[in-house]
Amino acid sequence: MSAVQLSGVHVVHRARGGGLFGRDRVYALTGADLTVAAGETVGVVGESGCGKSTLAKVLVGVERPTAGTVSCHGRDLWAMSPADRRSTVGASTGMVFQDPSTALNRRLPVHRILRDPLDVHSRGTKPEREERVRELMSLVGLDRALAEALPGQLSGGQRQRVAIARALALDPGLLVADEPTSALDVSVRAQILNLLSDLRERLGLAMVLVSHDIQTVRRMSDRVITMYLGRIVEETPAADVTDHARHPYTRALFSATPGLLRPIDPIPLTGPVPSATRPPSGCPFRTRCWRADDACAVRMPDFTAASRPAHRYRCHHPLEEDQPNHRLPRET
Ligand SMILES: Nc1ncnc2c1ncn2[C@@H]1O[C@H](COP(=O)(O)OP(=O)(O)OP(=O)(O)O)[C@@H](O)[C@H]1O
Ligand code: SF4
Ligand SMILES: [Mg+2]
Repeated sequence: MSAVQLSGVHVVHRARGGGLFGRDRVYALTGADLTVAAGETVGVVGESGCGKSTLAKVLVGVERPTAGTVSCHGRDLWAMSPADRRSTVGASTGMVFQDPSTALNRRLPVHRILRDPLDVHSRGTKPEREERVRELMSLVGLDRALAEALPGQLSGGQRQRVAIARALALDPGLLVADEPTSALDVSVRAQILNLLSDLRERLGLAMVLVSHDIQTVRRMSDRVITMYLGRIVEETPAADVTDHARHPYTRALFSATPGLLRPIDPIPLTGPVPSATRPPSGCPFRTRCWRADDACAVRMPDFTAASRPAHRYRCHHPLEEDQPNHRLPRET
């Protein structure tokens, strides 16, 4: 059973500041189809502004799609009453945001922050809630002595542990983590990632991990989703993504930060990302793609299944599966 499923999801915003008469639209997410299965980890990569956070927010029911459906355990989230939606989302998904200092209520001590979701969803008796709070603190490695501390008295890593504990308070099957370590010191990032891996194993969680650190995404995920300008352009089994991705953009992204085992030739990504207000016709990557031709300007390619299972891509002129990067044809 899928934990959550997106089908033809679009999110269109009115541009910030608006154009003339405020009518400019930002195409934050376009035609997204995605299934996250129980227990699976899906990593999401792509440059800034490509729609990763929008996708994350849609998955946890924080952002309402302009079109398309979001199903949670087979039920359409936005066809439910608001109360039903809140309880369904609350019980099945948790979200960890990028910046723990803004994600937590600064006036509440840790134990109240953790008890809040239990209170809101009326879980258990008062003593049971207090017990659950203690359990959550120990689950994420927080010393009990910190129960009365305010977020401002904690280190960045401790705050992120509180945020993770809160996301897990109602025992969800899916945890969505949007840049969970980017606001942290480099020295504590590994600890938080290890905690997430550990929790995933112990609790059998499904996880959606968004990060700029694509090597971390590759290491932690079963499947990697590549996004470009609001579109999902490839889904690749994580083990194959560096060498066997078929979409030029995925290859370029992963060639820029070589894996530790062996260096690969970097493929430069030149030129700016086009505006999400006026995405190019056809394939959105065509303004930066060295393989683009006229066909790419006419039609966005549909998904094609690759020979390996669980691998599909949207490209008119995909790379050969085993084509090494230094043999990739270039314009220059
Ligand atoms: N509330 C909003 N109003 C207007 N535009 C928005 C809004 N939220 C997001 N956008 C725009 O939608 C697009 C996708 O944004 P999103 O935050 O999902 O990207 P992202 O991939 O998470 O970027 P980053 O890597 O910088 O976090 C961007 O062009 C962004 O400016
Ligand atoms: S469809 Fe065309 S422009 Fe888009 S990635 Fe493939 S070759 Fe490049
Ligand atoms: Mg983001």
